[in-house]
Amino acid sequence: MTDRHLLDLAITARGNSYSPYSGYAVGAAVLTMDGKVFTGCNVENASFGATMCAERSALFAAVNAGARSFAAIAVAGGTAGQKSEINCTPCGLCLQVMSEFFTPDTPVILGTEDTLRVCRFGELFPNTFTLPQS
Ligand code: THU
Repeated sequence: MTDRHLLDLAITARGNSYSPYSGYAVGAAVLTMDGKVFTGCNVENASFGATMCAERSALFAAVNAGARSFAAIAVAGGTAGQKSEINCTPCGLCLQVMSEFFTPDTPVILGTEDTLRVCRFGELFPNTFTLPQS
């Protein structure tokens, strides 16, 4: 699985975005260590706080299927009906959820139909919240 292929899967998932309130469509694709891909899109709600982001949709789908180890995540977002934007980075809530499963080295692939950039999770979220070990 190349970075480009995983990002293309995120772009395809973006097509399912339900975003009538913001008009901003996001797709995500997570790759598990054993080679499976789970995708998600943002799903908005009239009660805005009930909205679910694309990254958490994809991650929760993966965890629900039993996945716990992840090789990478790709994210694509932008104004609905238009091409993705390079600057769509995961929000703080999604970063916190990723921190439960990712290592500082896990690649986070961000990009558009034409270009991509690969960050490390630790660059985006260097100081994660964790509970004390019992
Ligand atoms: N959104 C995501 O899906 N992922 C993010 O990391 C940031 C924001 C969604 C939530 C909402 O539906 C829309 O983008 C605008 O905030």
